Amino acid sequence: MAKRTIAGSRVLLTGASSGIGRALATQLVAQGARVLAIARRRERLEELAQQLTAALGRLEILAGDITSAELRDAALACARERLGGLDMLINNAGSGAMGPFAEATAERLRQVMDVNFFAPAEMIRTALPLLKSGNRPLVVNVSSVLGHRGVPFCAEYCASKFALQGLSESLRAELVPSGIDLLVVSPARTDTEFFSQAIKGEQSRWPKMRGTSSEFVAARTLSAIRTGRHEIVLTPGGKLFVWANRLFPRLMDSLVARYT
Ligand SMILES: NC(=O)c1ccc[n+]([C@@H]2O[C@H](COP(=O)([O-])OP(=O)(O)OC[C@H]3O[C@@H](n4cnc5c(N)ncnc54)[C@H](OP(=O)(O)O)[C@@H]3O)[C@@H](O)[C@H]2O)c1
Repeated sequence: MAKRTIAGSRVLLTGASSGIGRALATQLVAQGARVLAIARRRERLEELAQQLTAALGRLEILAGDITSAELRDAALACARERLGGLDMLINNAGSGAMGPFAEATAERLRQVMDVNFFAPAEMIRTALPLLKSGNRPLVVNVSSVLGHRGVPFCAEYCASKFALQGLSESLRAELVPSGIDLLVVSPARTDTEFFSQAIKGEQSRWPKMRGTSSEFVAARTLSAIRTGRHEIVLTPGGKLFVWANRLFPRLMDSLVARYT
């Protein structure tokens, strides 16, 4: 994958109102990128834009729901008008659901798949024509270590991230002739609003673990973009989790089953 500079890149970033997306917006602007940030909570985006514009550089914002085709079209029109094109699409917005699958509803599954899979997939399809004329174009999909290994009480979320992984691998090869690269970022547990915002079923039985910071995930993501990586798994614990599953899947089956 090509190495690239962040300065001057025109970036469309979803899920910028909190957590990892907010940290990505901040670090991208600090490093000289021109960013169009999307999320539903307009007031959060406005507050971030004010902060960044005063201290680091201009942030363009667009409030809306990425599961809406109209919003996705509007985002691309905005990138064309306000950024003058697009070099990078970062699909970061995501949401979770917790609790036993058997006691959940078809609606919960559909909601999670809509935000974590269908919306980023369609965002990529919508953005392709503009990306093709971009400078060293790149799609970044924020997945999860749970896109490599499923765990109990997160079935919908794991399924959505596995789907994103599969789509990403296929597109990485398919987009080679268009010159568009694709990076998948798989954070491990990160301290954000993710868990308080998740659709909740029964309380999780997973041991409480300290997470890493959004700033760390954002910094590692920008470093992977600069150095031309196509896949990163964050934190030593996250790497151990993914590799243990590749090497010893049966052992991992019995380990994760202890938390049911
Ligand atoms: N936190 C973790 O432990 C962890 C671990 C691995 C992977 N991840 C992944 O990292 C990404 C960022 O999550 P986070 O931890 O930073 O969580 P977060 O703080 O809850 O941020 C999620 C972002 O997504 C936006 N969003 C959610 N649904 C949306 C929709 N329908 N339309 C537009 N924007 C939407 C939210 O903004 P609004 O509510 O304002 O729309 C928010 O800005 C997600 O893809 C998540 O799956 C997180």
